[in-house]
Amino acid sequence: MSKSVRGVVARSKGAPVSIETIVVPDPGPGEARVRVRACGVCHTDLHYREGGIGDEYPYLLGHEAAGVVESVGEGVTEVAVGDFVILNWRAVCGDCRACRRGRPQYCFATHNAKQKMTLEDGTELSPALGIGAFAELTLVAAGQCTKVDPEADPAAAGLLGCGVMAGLGAAVNTGNVGRGDTVAVIGCGGVGDAAIAGARLAGAAKIIAVDLDDRKLEWARRAGATHTVNSKAGDPVEAIRELTGGFGADVVIDAVGRPETYKQAFYARDLAGTVVLVGVPNPEMTIELPLLDVFGRGGALKSSWYGDCLPSRDFPTLIDLYRQGRFDLDAFVSERITLEDVEAAFEKMHHGDVLRSVVIL
Ligand SMILES: NC(=O)c1ccc[n+]([C@@H]2O[C@H](COP(=O)([O-])OP(=O)(O)OC[C@H]3O[C@@H](n4cnc5c(N)ncnc54)[C@H](O)[C@@H]3O)[C@@H](O)[C@H]2O)c1
Ligand SMILES: [Zn+2]
Ligand SMILES: [Zn+2]
Repeated sequence: MSKSVRGVVARSKGAPVSIETIVVPDPGPGEARVRVRACGVCHTDLHYREGGIGDEYPYLLGHEAAGVVESVGEGVTEVAVGDFVILNWRAVCGDCRACRRGRPQYCFATHNAKQKMTLEDGTELSPALGIGAFAELTLVAAGQCTKVDPEADPAAAGLLGCGVMAGLGAAVNTGNVGRGDTVAVIGCGGVGDAAIAGARLAGAAKIIAVDLDDRKLEWARRAGATHTVNSKAGDPVEAIRELTGGFGADVVIDAVGRPETYKQAFYARDLAGTVVLVGVPNPEMTIELPLLDVFGRGGALKSSWYGDCLPSRDFPTLIDLYRQGRFDLDAFVSERITLEDVEAAFEKMHHGDVLRSVVIL
């Protein structure tokens, strides 16, 4: 039997989101239906609402979620009813050219549920990142459920499902930050602060946080930044160079994703350093760089999708570190809200009032 629940839908480009009745089918083969306990509001949800990701409206938003498996379809062995899980948007296929070469973190054929959730009139919904978790129930591929310690607070745990994993992994997996490195992070929202926390976990010696907002810089210090730079007050490239003996940082992470921040990252790194782009640009953005600088500075220019994570490897470990008090996931939860508050949460995000608003269901 399909079930009808409430969910947050973006019906058309730029329009405010609305609460709609969502019809969630019974899980089919390889699928799981999950009772969502908590779901964070990520900037990517706002990108969807604004048409920055695609034009497949209506979208069922929400994708940073933790919940409990309510039912499973035929042939599901990964998870069972009652398991506490974090939802992920990288359910690796095991069979594509990336998986076959032993690099499942780049899987090119990740799974989502085959059946569609719909509005009451039968209109098919596009779930954000194949998840759609601003809803009391959601339907996903079983591989999108990663079982973790059920003692973890769902509001904090769910954040690993996207932004926190993306930021932390951008530093640790993509940027390969190691002991003694100097790291700069441009943009200190949830993603940037997670990159800072990741750099700290990896043993970086100096972690420079860059933002336009002093409040964000204060929070970045709590996440582990050793130095802060407000780019409204002066050129951040100069400031980062000054803080690194005139050289630049070994790894610079752009957690904003705009042409100007990317250029700052490009020039604020040391020779042979690494730039990691984790912020998501919009389709109109372009950059121009002297090709000689691209060549002459050496190093690596990388992009990080989901922090190059493997949910099955990374989520349980990070939840264990969290439970042991070694990784402060709670610091990312700025407020707990209801489904009705998602639009207001976008506004707060826009004004920089929160790291993460988390919908509790
Ligand atoms: N690559 C991925 O897998 C992935 C996953 C999740 C989110 N993201 C993206 O990461 C980005 C950040 O997400 P978030 O949730 O932290 O967003 P956020 O809005 O909470 O944070 C962005 C921060 O950047 C700061 N900022 C904006 N312009 C700046 C500038 N010019 N210089 C310095 N700082 C500036 C803001 O003050 C804010 O603190 C978004 O683009 C989001 O879509 C990427
Ligand atoms: Zn694959
Ligand atoms: Zn996200």
